Amino acid sequence: MDMNTERDCFPINLLFLNEDPAVGEIRLSKQNQKYDLTLQVSGEVGEIELTVKDSDGVCVSKFSVSRETECCKVGTQSFLVTPGYFSILLHFSTQIDFQAFQKLLKRGIGHETISAFDRRTDDSSALQYFQFYGCLSQQQNMLQDYLRTGTYQKAILVNEVDFKGKTVLDVGCGSGILSFFAVQAGAKKVYAVEASSAAKYAQILVKSNNLSDKITVVAGKIEEVSFPEDVDVIISEPIGYMLLNERMLESYLHSRKWLKPNGKMFPTFSDIHLAPFTDELLYMEHYARSSFWHQTSFYGINLSGLHSASSDEFFKQPIVDTFDMQILMAKSVKYSINFLEAKEEDLHRIEIPFVFQLLQSGLIHGLAIWFDVAFVGSRVTIWLSTSPSEPLTHWYQVRCLLQTPLFGKTGQTLSGTVLLMANRRQSYDIHITAVVDQSGFKSGNSLDLKNPFFRYA
Ligand SMILES: C[S@@+](CC[C@H](N)C(=O)[O-])C[C@H]1O[C@@H](n2cnc3c(N)ncnc32)[C@H](O)[C@@H]1O
Repeated sequence: MDMNTERDCFPINLLFLNEDPAVGEIRLSKQNQKYDLTLQVSGEVGEIELTVKDSDGVCVSKFSVSRETECCKVGTQSFLVTPGYFSILLHFSTQIDFQAFQKLLKRGIGHETISAFDRRTDDSSALQYFQFYGCLSQQQNMLQDYLRTGTYQKAILVNEVDFKGKTVLDVGCGSGILSFFAVQAGAKKVYAVEASSAAKYAQILVKSNNLSDKITVVAGKIEEVSFPEDVDVIISEPIGYMLLNERMLESYLHSRKWLKPNGKMFPTFSDIHLAPFTDELLYMEHYARSSFWHQTSFYGINLSGLHSASSDEFFKQPIVDTFDMQILMAKSVKYSINFLEAKEEDLHRIEIPFVFQLLQSGLIHGLAIWFDVAFVGSRVTIWLSTSPSEPLTHWYQVRCLLQTPLFGKTGQTLSGTVLLMANRRQSYDIHITAVVDQSGFKSGNSLDLKNPFFRYA
């Protein structure tokens, strides 16, 4: 067990439970009410050692846990273990701690191999992410994006031939909407997988729509669940801001292990578009957001020492909103991802080189980014577009500012790269470098896609 990269100490509370055979009673002896005990997890694969110490570092209890040890989860953040004649209840101070402990324990005693999802995701990010999608209001928000939901239904129904009598996998089914569309198109069987607590809502809708014989809701992560058969079609809406935010595309690609040879993926591929834009107002507005920190007497305190840190923080935020096409200074450059072929690792580091031929002179303030996804059916290919030239979706468009604007003239070229590095917070670090080739003027920026600025009204 590799303890070096993960936490192996947790604040806990401890309860001893003793059985009194004379009177046949279980007795609780509360040793400590506060979280000032520390649990340390150590040991080899196969057997791990749990050591509880008090705030002075004195060992209060020590015992081993192996596959044979009687133990179980209690509630949402406690663990009951019976190492001998007595039982111990370990109560963790947070659910995140408890989950981290569970993971160490399962791996340590050989009950678990880490899933692809867990390998790439911080526990705290996953917890927050699935809590978000467990809310009906969030599912509603997506369902009410008429363009999104309507286009998915159209793509499935016009390609009915791909669904009739077929077995389908719905990756991240949420409310189950895409599974219902697959049944409307004649699917024989749909496995609807959902990792958040929305799985229970999908189950309610399946039952109340009398489709329990057709749709089986499977609660869990696609990387961790299994099915009795391979499927003919995989459907999913694994799309975040700028296509890639949330890193759910990797789960979608992972699900291909359940796809029969020559099976279909809906959506089938995606194009990411980049184009330089000019928007003085946006730049000034963004710049002015940090002017608060220019104050030299805020309640008598000089804040200006933090102005540059605040400006750096704001410039790291990609801007989510929409804009008029006229601000685009060149034809977009396209980067395609084919979901039938791409590997999960291909999405860990994405480098998009660009050379833009400028169609107008002026200040280049940054790069605008949007995407289209295509559903390639046997009958028709349907597109779902988030282009600024198309009706707005809940993904809007994303704009990344350059630290300093670049002056460019019609006919000149702006070249450089956008480097997208996946991170453990289910998102990407964006690194942009750009140069106007004819003048040699350079600029760039590094941004955090996990923390965008939502500018739309
Ligand atoms: C963008 S929503 C789409 C929901 C639904 N399919 C729809 O179209 O309305 C993505 C859903 O996938 C779920 N999800 C994300 N990653 C998952 C994974 N690895 N395994 C299972 N479900 C996942 C999320 O909890 C969320 O409900």
